[in-house]
Amino acid sequence: MVADAAPQLTEGLTGAARPRHVAIIMDGNGRWATERGWPRLVGHRRGAERVKQIVHACPLMGVNWLTIYAFSTENWKRSTVEVLGLMGIFARYIRREADAMAAEGVRMRFIGDREPLDRKLRGLMDSIEVQTAGNSRLNLTVAINYGGRAELTRASARLAAKIGRGEIGEPTEADLAACLDTAGHPDPDLVIRTSGETRISNFLPFQAAYAEYEFTPTLWPDFTPAHLEEILDRFGMRDRRFGAA
Ligand code: IPE
Ligand code: IPE
Ligand code: MG
Repeated sequence: MVADAAPQLTEGLTGAARPRHVAIIMDGNGRWATERGWPRLVGHRRGAERVKQIVHACPLMGVNWLTIYAFSTENWKRSTVEVLGLMGIFARYIRREADAMAAEGVRMRFIGDREPLDRKLRGLMDSIEVQTAGNSRLNLTVAINYGGRAELTRASARLAAKIGRGEIGEPTEADLAACLDTAGHPDPDLVIRTSGETRISNFLPFQAAYAEYEFTPTLWPDFTPAHLEEILDRFGMRDRRFGAA
């Protein structure tokens, strides 16, 4: 979808306008653990439990698309223990949640560059995408080894190849959007970042150009469906103009 596409809102249980697509920068796992004197990976494990709850809650709150930032292209800078630990958590999550997701109508997909990921993890990612391809109650997109700049660079190369083959002439915004990892996904209406940081850290720069933003001090392992509900209620009060008067 392109950034100027008309927003499509869904009705929540309250009847107020609800974002159809919510994207979350799940931040603060490390601090949550460190505050308690625990290793950072304990925070990541607790964070994965929160993901389960939020995934379950979204369709009940009228949210049909959920995109979550799990690992950025910059996160390779972390210690080997933390990086490998995170990869293990992703693999376990897919294995353990596959049946629940299938039963709850969740379609799971991934964005980001898979190439540098472990072969087994890639296999799990491919198979869950196939297993849940027929579902549509919640479209869950997980960004792993994702960076907006890297994605735009990949997309530019795809676009150039299409132009080279004569498939398109002068490229449009829609042509570029169709070359992104998120091709065919609607743009996020709302981006939430937990942990009090007020930056986007290379998350969906093209797709979220017209999103609303919410920054909450709550650390991700403390973020509950009730926090999400409160943010969604506030979203309904916003005046989205998309450049119009
Ligand atoms: C977010 O939590 C999870 C990932 C980036 C993988 P952090 O690990 O960044 O937690 P803080 O920001 O250090 O507290
Ligand atoms: C952003 O969090 C990436 C994810 C949540 C996966 P970071 O903790 O990596 O971001 P910075 O370093 O604070 O910008
Ligand atoms: Mg962080």
